[in-house]
Order: sequence, then structure tokens, then C-alpha cells
Amino acid sequence: MDTLLKQLPKIELHLHIEGTLEPEMMFALSQKNNIPIPYKSVEEVRKAYDFHNLQSFLDLYYAGASVLVDREDFFSLTWAYFLKCKEDNVIHTEIFFDPQTHSSRGIDVGEVIEGITLAMKKAKEELGISSYLIACILRHLSEEEGIATLQSLLPFRNKIIAIGLDSSEVGNPPSKFKRLFELAKKEGFYIVAHAGEEGDSSYIWEALELGVNRIDHGVHCSEDSKLVQYLKDKQIPLTVCPLSNLKLKVFKTPKEHNLVWLLREGLCVGINSDDPSYFGGYMGENFEMIAKNFDLSIDEIVKLSINALNSSFLPQNEKKTLMSKIENFKNVTKS
Ligand code: ADE
Ligand code: ZN
Repeated sequence: MDTLLKQLPKIELHLHIEGTLEPEMMFALSQKNNIPIPYKSVEEVRKAYDFHNLQSFLDLYYAGASVLVDREDFFSLTWAYFLKCKEDNVIHTEIFFDPQTHSSRGIDVGEVIEGITLAMKKAKEELGISSYLIACILRHLSEEEGIATLQSLLPFRNKIIAIGLDSSEVGNPPSKFKRLFELAKKEGFYIVAHAGEEGDSSYIWEALELGVNRIDHGVHCSEDSKLVQYLKDKQIPLTVCPLSNLKLKVFKTPKEHNLVWLLREGLCVGINSDDPSYFGGYMGENFEMIAKNFDLSIDEIVKLSINALNSSFLPQNEKKTLMSKIENFKNVTKS
């Protein structure tokens, strides 16, 4: 089963590039850029990753990101992530970054985008992995600041496929960003939003009212049967992140996770890694955790990849090409 899971062609749609910063790289960049971090060793960093909720994680995540300064740093970070993708047979990925986490420290957003997109280009050429970039707006900040950030991204319009919404959810509902998302849609971006990670189902309804193309997380939908039916009927994608939900105590134990229930109810769910360096694993480990705790058939495992591919922003012809890779895998497992 483990080898089969490794070989499954995977699509990742919920990955914060800042959340792939491994402690070793954090130390190296802290020294290179002369930015102090409050840890003495890699072991001490890992020990600190003991979160009790989303905010306790975000505090460390933003502090960690402070070591990222120039385009080379963003290139190295993104390239290291692509090497993990190769190991896990991730064939397409849609990567989040948080422009405000860097612009607030005086870092030119153009440098950030340049570093990340250089690695994306190299990954396509050398590893055969396609990717898109999504800029997330920090919801704990004001809508005005978000709109100014959106405007600062317009010169890089052709490098960004979508605008997202992340950070501290409770108290910062999607409706706070109604104008911003109207503007983003007018500019031709797809839109996505974290909703129903810690927030209740009303956050998901509000994100749907904004017209999002996908809901990031969305696991709190299961407390609202009308919402579950709606998500199923409309096949609105949920980009679910099992290890993240466990680390942040959204679910207490692996068996309580509702991903497989949602899949069997017929919702369009996929598996993603969110912030793999902080949550204990990349795509491979997330699939393993679910397979180990639930009696999934090969067809169900493959369906998770098919759902993710259908939910991606790839054009139809590229979806078709990647679908044949997934179908091939299914045929090999059956022969
Ligand atoms: N930023 C990075 N990871 C996040 C998460 N899981 N939820 C909200 N904002 C985030
Ligand atoms: Zn996330």
C-alpha cells in the first residue's frame, strides 16, 4: 500500500510556500541574513511546533518567515518544496504566498514573486511539474490594506492565477473582504478562501457568497446538513489538509477526521499539506495518515486525486493529459 500511495499521481491545491520552511533552512537563512531567531537548535525549533490552535501556529509561522529576504531565499524555499513534490509524485501544484507577510517588513513583493516563479519555471523544465501561484490576503488586517496589496500585485498579473484569503479566521469573516474580492474578480483572478477551518459553517456560506472557486479546508461544513447538500450538488471543491487539522486540534484524533465521510457523501474533496514543515508531513504523509486510519479502496484513493485535478485552475487540455496519468496508475494497480 505504501508504494502504491507513493506512486499515485497527486495534485496539491493548498500549500503555503512559507509553511515549507524547514528548520535547517530557517537556521541557514537566519545566519545569512543576520536575522535572529529565538532557537538554539533544529531540535528546539521542532519542539516548539506544539500547537493548540490556529493562532498559536500563526505566531510561529510569521516569526519563521522573517528570515526570508531576497529573491534567492524565495527561490531556494520553493525549489526545496518542488524536490519534495518529486518524491511524492505531485504532478501539479497551486502554491499560496502571503505578500503582506513580506511587504510589511519592507521586502519588495516583486522580489518574492521573482524568486518563487523562477523555481516554478525550473520545476516545469527539469522535473516536469506544473504549477500556479496564488496570492493570499491576510484577513487579520483591514480590507483597505488588502486592497492596496491587490493593487501592488497588478504589475505581476500574468504570474498570479488567483487571490486567496488566509490567517486568523474567527472574527475575520469573508464578508469583511467583499469589495476586495469584487475587484479581484474584475481583474480576472480566480478566487479562493480559507473558510470553516476553525470558523463555523457561516464562514463557508459567506465565502460562497463571495463567489469563490474553491473553499480551503471547509471541514466545519459537516455541522450543517444544508451546506453539505449544497457543496455536494454544486461540487464546490474543498481543499482539505488532514495533518494540519490534527496539529491545530480541529480534530482530536486521526479517526475523527471527516475527510473520508465527506468523500463518501459525494463532496469534491482532495488531500493537501497546508504547511508541511510545521504539521509533520508533505503530500505523501497526508495520504498515508488517511489510508492508515480509514479502510480506503484504490478507487477512493484515486478519486481524491481526480477531484483535485478537476478542481485545479489548469485548462481543459492539460487536465485531460494529467487525467490520463491518473487513469494509467489505476489500470496498473488493477492488473
Ligand atoms: N496561513 C498559513 N497556514 C494557514 C492556515 N492553516 N490557516 C490560515 N492561515 C494560514
Ligand atoms: Zn492554509
